[in-house]
Amino acid sequence: MIIASNFKTNHTRESAKEYLVKLNHFVKENSIKEDILIFPPSTALDNYKLENTIKIGVQNAYPTDKGSFTGEVGFTQIDEFDIKTILVGHSERRHILKESDELIVKKYNFYKDKCYKIVYCIGEPKEVRNEGLEKVLEYNFSQLDGIDLSYENLIVAYEPVWAIGTGVSATKEDIEETLSALRKSIKAPLLYGGSVKVDNLKEILEIEDCDGVLVGTASWEVENFKEMVKIAHEL
Ligand code: PGA
Repeated sequence: MIIASNFKTNHTRESAKEYLVKLNHFVKENSIKEDILIFPPSTALDNYKLENTIKIGVQNAYPTDKGSFTGEVGFTQIDEFDIKTILVGHSERRHILKESDELIVKKYNFYKDKCYKIVYCIGEPKEVRNEGLEKVLEYNFSQLDGIDLSYENLIVAYEPVWAIGTGVSATKEDIEETLSALRKSIKAPLLYGGSVKVDNLKEILEIEDCDGVLVGTASWEVENFKEMVKIAHEL
């Protein structure tokens, strides 16, 4: 089971460190074997000494070793911290930051060549969901165009745009039917993301084709995230 936390634009360097110290202690004390991925903001990246089951990743990076890309970080800057995990195609980057499919595919291929673990996000907006499952699948599969689905370090996160940060998760039925349709073409682990919280986590993790979750809001407070890790561990 994979439990991932996306800090987005939250936590400082200091509070991220405090968070990780507490989480690491909890994982160690309770012999937690679940895979935990944490995506802090880039100002809080570091060579943290953590249990093997906790990996730090970047929320974004430019597909370059180094160069002139003001405001971006590239492979050299991430590699300094021994980081080998990246989120690609998160809906906030696609929709708020207007990242194109072309750039997203380029990032995917660049970090695949560096053997990174890639959490690749897909998900439809509300108007597509309203048109029914067939359109939802068409939309999600179009976001996988150009992506090598057989890459061994790929994790696909299905995150419907309308469920992200809204407090309203997709229904169990929506998640179930979407993940089971994706599963037919994707052998990689499948995560669900979008308003996952302590109250709905167990139900979501029990879905047959769900291999884990990507959590935003509900993971930013460490006690809450520890509770979620505990729920996953006890399943
Ligand atoms: P949320 O965010 O849990 O706040 O809905 C999920 C995500 O963006 O990955």
